[in-house]
Amino acid sequence: MSKLLIANWKSHKTHAGLLSWWDEFMRDFQLKEGNLLAIAAPFTLLGELKKIIEPIENIKLAAQTVSPFPMGSYTGEINAQQLSELGVKYVIVGHSERRRYFHETDELVADQVREVLAAGMTPVLCVDEGYIESQAQALDDDALAHCVIAYEPLAAIGSGVAADVGSVAAVVKTIRSVYGSQVPVLYGGSVTPENVGEYVLVCDGALVGGASLDGATAAQICSALVA
Ligand code: PGA
Repeated sequence: MSKLLIANWKSHKTHAGLLSWWDEFMRDFQLKEGNLLAIAAPFTLLGELKKIIEPIENIKLAAQTVSPFPMGSYTGEINAQQLSELGVKYVIVGHSERRRYFHETDELVADQVREVLAAGMTPVLCVDEGYIESQAQALDDDALAHCVIAYEPLAAIGSGVAADVGSVAAVVKTIRSVYGSQVPVLYGGSVTPENVGEYVLVCDGALVGGASLDGATAAQICSALVA
C-alpha cells in the first residue's frame, strides 16, 4: 500500500537553508514506487521549492496552514486559491501549534478544510486523542471523507518520545470509525529514520517535524520505507 510522508518545516529555514537542505537530501534520496513525499515549507519558500521539485514526480508541495476565508480583504492571510495556483497539493490544518499559539478553533479549522477542498487540494487535518470526535463535529461527512488525518499526540511532538505503536494502532482504528473507514491516517510526533518503519505498518504514513529539517535525515526517513 502506498504511503505519504509529510515534512513539516514549521517556521524554520531561509532561502540559503532550503538550498543546502536540498543538496544533502538529494545525495541519498530514494522513495519506493507509489509512495509520496510532500514538503510543507514556509510560505516564503514555496515558490522556490516548486521550481526545485518540479522534475521529481513523487515529491509534492504542501503548506502548513491557510486562510479560513476566500480571497478578499483579510490582511496578512494567504488563501487556498493562491496556494493552489502555486502548485500546492496538501495543506496542513489544525496543527496543535496553530490551535495553541494562534487560538484556532474547530470551527475555523472546518472553514480551512472547506476552502482547501474547494480549491482542489487535500487538507491534512491534525487531530488529537481525546478530541477526535469533537474535532470532527464541525465538518460534514463529505468533507471528512476527502481529508488526510494526522494523529499527533501532544506529548510526542518535538519531545523525542514517540508514541507507542500499539496505542497509535488503536487510535487509528478510532479515527477510521469516526472519519470513515477509507480515510488515510498519518502518525506524527518524534518520527525518526529508526522508528518510521514501525508506524507505517499501522497507518498510511507520517508527519515529520524536527527530523525533516536535516536533508540527510529526511532522505533516510524516505529510504526507511524502501525495504
Ligand atoms: P516532531 O513534530 O516530528 O518534531 O515531533 C511533528 C509535528 O509537529 O508535525
